[in-house]
Amino acid sequence: MESNQTIKESKQVTTPTQTLRVDLAERGYDIEIGTGNLGGVGRFLAERGKVSHAVVVTDENVREPYAADVAESLTEQQIEVDVIVIEPGEPSKSIDMAAGLWNGMLELGADRSSVVVAVGGGVVGDLAGFAAATYARGVRFLQAPTSLLAQVDSSVGGKVGINLPEAKNMVGAFLQPIGVLIDTDTLATLEPRQYHAGLGEVVKYGVILDAELFDYLEANTAGLIEQDRKVLSHVIARCCRLKAEVVVSDEREETGLRAVLNYGHTFAHAFETLCGYGELLHGEAVSIGMLCASRLAERLGRVDAEFTERQYHLLDTLGLPTQTPKLDGQAIINAMMHDKKVQHGRLRFVLPKEMGRVELVDQVDPADVRAAL
Ligand code: GLY
Repeated sequence: MESNQTIKESKQVTTPTQTLRVDLAERGYDIEIGTGNLGGVGRFLAERGKVSHAVVVTDENVREPYAADVAESLTEQQIEVDVIVIEPGEPSKSIDMAAGLWNGMLELGADRSSVVVAVGGGVVGDLAGFAAATYARGVRFLQAPTSLLAQVDSSVGGKVGINLPEAKNMVGAFLQPIGVLIDTDTLATLEPRQYHAGLGEVVKYGVILDAELFDYLEANTAGLIEQDRKVLSHVIARCCRLKAEVVVSDEREETGLRAVLNYGHTFAHAFETLCGYGELLHGEAVSIGMLCASRLAERLGRVDAEFTERQYHLLDTLGLPTQTPKLDGQAIINAMMHDKKVQHGRLRFVLPKEMGRVELVDQVDPADVRAAL
């Protein structure tokens, strides 16, 4: 940790703030990506309409200093601020915790003119967004993601929700945020395991949509591991742009276009559920899940072994797990049946065809799935 910090500090260069648009007409919004810009959340929110009350939702790991900085920046804009702090970790994406937020917001006098501001990783964003989507039939919601996974994936696109004990992300809604503000400097204090897990989702974007990005990641593994600001800012902006394009093309995952973002996720969600929420981090499960999906694609004659090997090598170099957890094959298939891509009781998978191109494949034989584990 000490030595990591030294490397990170020696690489301080200023990267220009970038603003990307998620072009969804009246539900469209900006993603601001910068370094050291977290104290701008108050300004960013005030630019997006009249706000008199904000409920900042955060977790115990992020409360100090990040949520406190955000709260201060909101107060500077004459916005009344309340802060709700949840326990960190995937088990917090539960119906009990959602009920806790609803009741907390009621006690704080939140109403339809309040804004929920999520400051934290994917768990905070998904849960806070779900509370925002459902409280008073929906209030405005702003994302200030502080983990890599949330910055490149979960904060953009409006998927919010909680887990059921037997099915990950099974209850939720689509609620686009009114804006996303990303400060890449928050990654410097992220627990290394969480940071590496976020790189799993970064690799996913290369495989599914962007062969050039995959080449870039392979050529910049040292910069990624050391959190070089230039590399990070390039990669985060690229992932957000790709995600924004996909979300605009299929906001509610109706045509199959948005489903490509779920590469490796049918396996990953089953592993997360069966191992117990929080045992495997989501990005770790995605890393293993992508390799399973790639092996499945090999079995179906879509890609060759070298294709899987390339992903394996990159994920392994980036410090991600690659070995399938020891779980019962039939239990995995049963858990996969809860996947939201299942149609008429048949498993469907996002499978690669070549680097940067994946397709949704129907009617996959469970025997092939088991063999790919
Ligand atoms: N993380 C998958 C999606 O947003 O659709």
